[in-house]
Amino acid sequence: MDKFLITGGKKLSGTVKVSGAKNSSLALMPATLLNSGSNIQFNTPEVNDIYTMIKLLTHLGVECVFENGTLTLNTKGINNQEAPYEHVKKMRASVYVLGPLLSRYGYAKVSLPGGCAWGPRPINLHLESLKKMGADIQLEEGYIIAKANKLKGAHINFDISSVGATGNLMMAASLAKGETIITNAAMEPEITQLAEYLVNMGAKINGIGTPILEIEGTDELYPANVKNICDRIEAGTLLTAAAITKSKIKIVYPDYKHFRAVLSKFEDSGAKITIDKDVVSIDAENLEALSVDVNTSIYPGFPTDMQAQWTAYMSLAGGICKVTDNIYTDRFNYVPELNRLGADIQVTNNSAVIKGTKKLRAAKVMSTDLRASASLVLAGLAAEGVTEVLRIYHLDRGYQRIEEKLSALGADIKRESGAEF
Ligand code: EPU
Repeated sequence: MDKFLITGGKKLSGTVKVSGAKNSSLALMPATLLNSGSNIQFNTPEVNDIYTMIKLLTHLGVECVFENGTLTLNTKGINNQEAPYEHVKKMRASVYVLGPLLSRYGYAKVSLPGGCAWGPRPINLHLESLKKMGADIQLEEGYIIAKANKLKGAHINFDISSVGATGNLMMAASLAKGETIITNAAMEPEITQLAEYLVNMGAKINGIGTPILEIEGTDELYPANVKNICDRIEAGTLLTAAAITKSKIKIVYPDYKHFRAVLSKFEDSGAKITIDKDVVSIDAENLEALSVDVNTSIYPGFPTDMQAQWTAYMSLAGGICKVTDNIYTDRFNYVPELNRLGADIQVTNNSAVIKGTKKLRAAKVMSTDLRASASLVLAGLAAEGVTEVLRIYHLDRGYQRIEEKLSALGADIKRESGAEF
């Protein structure tokens, strides 16, 4: 297991490029199960969740070649419709193979994803909606066993807007018989990109980017290529690194339109944001950041995946603010670790009340999940002394060599390997 050693207090400067979006690739990759042939996906991030999805798809018979961000998925040899526990337990997004396998092959056996680091993450919406499309779904020995001669179009209203359920359903409905209407569909950019990709494969989808999707099933889909969007959460994490260290940096981020809510919150905190073509600049030099409340919500609101990073930033702001997570109400496992660095944060229900403090002091801290790790790294960049962030395998799931990007900007951050971390 690796850890980071971060000597805090260094100013950042310069320009870094944002990598491809993990959560978008994790949907684009299983979408290829719907066709037979060679699909090329550009701008795929080199992160461990992508390697996990590659292993799973390879297990299903997909030939995967991944080089320098270009992923080629040849689906001609698919010969297995079963996703075993060993793959799914590592990554909940593995459940994305359910919709396409069931729809194309009439059968899928997928291990049930368990809870996650910060609490329950159910998949009832995925299962109920597939049932409404005519699937027979049984749960046996920790597995979802789904069967259907041919899925049939249905009207599905999600009580909660769900990224994963919308993606799974959209894939399933693309090869179903008749029309599927999804109301209260997720509108996240990763879902919009998936819908556009399916259309490029020959799917018929109306209402892309809106909460009402109309999908007319078709008999066959064809291989297609796609250039993945950039990762809005990596973009936000890098901007927070600048803000928390009172620095000025630029990020190359052509998809900044996906990120307006967070950019606006940075401005509210007193940081200057400017956009010039594909480049977003943040100027937080000598900034005494203002405390700014945040309420996470579905897109285009403030993303839950930026909640922990924002809390780290606010721990050094000038007043008191409240960060509320309305998507994942338990996602505050990292708070005791930030408090060990000297932050003053109290969690009640799904809110953290953050009293800004003048400085953070280095300590050993433990990552508990992906975004939690990011918040600890950010705090470490600002803390006095050498902060050790342990268990950074969480971070490696979703950030492409973040230490190299931060080092290029002038941070003092080193990776060390060792069994005891
Ligand atoms: N929900 C249900 N039932 C379901 C599905 C979801 O009640 O069947 C609830 C969840 O418990 C949650 C809400 O609906 O309260 C939204 O969950 P959603 O289904 O949208 O989340 P997801 O698809 O499992 C994706 C991202 C997450 C991100 C969420 C929210 C991927 C691979 N994962 O998860 O990303 O937090 O959307 O935006 O796309 C991360 O990258 O760190 C991460 C966790």
